[in-house]
Amino acid sequence: MKTITLIQGDGIGPEITSAAVKIIDAAGVKIDWDVQTAGADVIDKEGSPLPMRVIQSVRKNGTALKSPVTTPIGKGFRSVNVTLRKELDLYANLRPCCNIPSVKTRYENVDIVVVRENTEDLYAGVEEMINKDTAHSIKIITRQASERIAKFAFEYALKNNRSLVSAVTKANICKLSDGLFLEAARRIASEYPNIQYKEILVDNCCMQLVQNPGQFDVLLLPNLYGDIVSDLTAGLIGGLGVAQGANIGENCAVFEPVHGSAPDIAGQNKANPTAIILSAVEMLNYINENKKAAMIKNALFKTFKDGIFTADLGGTSSCTGFTDAIIKNLQE
Ligand code: NAI
Repeated sequence: MKTITLIQGDGIGPEITSAAVKIIDAAGVKIDWDVQTAGADVIDKEGSPLPMRVIQSVRKNGTALKSPVTTPIGKGFRSVNVTLRKELDLYANLRPCCNIPSVKTRYENVDIVVVRENTEDLYAGVEEMINKDTAHSIKIITRQASERIAKFAFEYALKNNRSLVSAVTKANICKLSDGLFLEAARRIASEYPNIQYKEILVDNCCMQLVQNPGQFDVLLLPNLYGDIVSDLTAGLIGGLGVAQGANIGENCAVFEPVHGSAPDIAGQNKANPTAIILSAVEMLNYINENKKAAMIKNALFKTFKDGIFTADLGGTSSCTGFTDAIIKNLQE
C-alpha cells in the first residue's frame, strides 16, 4: 500500500480534503494517509506553522495531497506554501486549465497549461524596511532556475503533444531580471525545434487571454506572474473551485488546488471540491493508478452532466452532497 502525506490545511481545507479522501477510498485505491497538520493552528504548540515533521513526511513519502493554508497578510510567519515549495525544491508549479464538460463558461476553447517557476522571484522573501517609510522587496531571478523551469515546460509540451510555449514576462520594464528569464527560455527553446516558441508581455497576455484564450497552449512564467495569470485562467473555465495544480520537484510532488483557504465560505459546507479532486486525479496518475484516476474523473464529469453543481457554479449542491453524488456515480 502506498503511503502519501495528507495536509488538510485550514479554512475550507478540511472539507475539501475529506471529499477527496472519501472519493479515492470509494474508487478502491488503497492509500495509507500520513496526516500532517500545518498552519496557524500548530504555531502555539510547535512554534512554526510548518514544523519539520511535515517536510520530512513529504520527503520520505515522495507524494503529498495538500489543501490550502491561510497566510496572514502583512505580518507573522512566512507562507507555509512558499516555504514548503522552497524546502522541497518543488520548482515547477503545473496548472492545467481546460474546459470541463457540462460546466458552462464564456469560453469553449480553453486548453492552457500554466507552468510557473516556484522557488524564486519576489517570493524569495528578501524584504527590508530601509527606513520607516520605505520598503524594499528584492526580485531574484537566476539563470539556473529559469533554464530549469523552461526545460520543464518544453519537456511537458513534448510529452503531451503540445505545439506552442509562450514565455510571459515584463521584460520591457524589468530588463535585467525578466530579461534573464527570457534569455534562459530562448536558449532552452532552441533545443526544441519542433515546438513553437513565442514571447508576450504579461499585461498584453492578460488582455489576450480574456479576448481569445484559444490562441494559447503552454504558458511559461516567473513566479509572481504565474500566480496571478493562473487565477485568471481559472476564471476562464469556471473559477477557482475547478482549478487543479501540482508542485513538482526532482524527488517529490505535492498536488494541491490553485485556490486558497476561502475564509468567506469556510465551515459552511459550500466549497466546491472539484479542484482538489482533479489535483488528486493527477496524483493518482503520478503514482501509476491511471485506471482509478480515469474512473474518478469520469464520475466527476458524470455528476456535472447530471446537472449537480455547487454554488460557485450556480448550483445548489453542498460540498458533501456533491461528493456523495460522485461516489454514487463511481459505484454505477
Ligand atoms: P481564495 O482562493 O481562498 O478565494 C478567492 C475566492 O474564490 C473566494 O470568494 C472564495 O470563496 C472562492 N473560492 C476559492 N476556492 C473555492 C472553492 N473550492 N469552492 C468555492 N469557492 C471557492 O483566495 P483569497 O481569499 O485571496 O485567499 C485566502 C487565503 O488563502 C489567504 O490567506 C491566502 O494566502 C491563502 N492561499 C493559500 C494557497 C495555498 O495554500 N496554496 C493559495 C492561495 C491562497
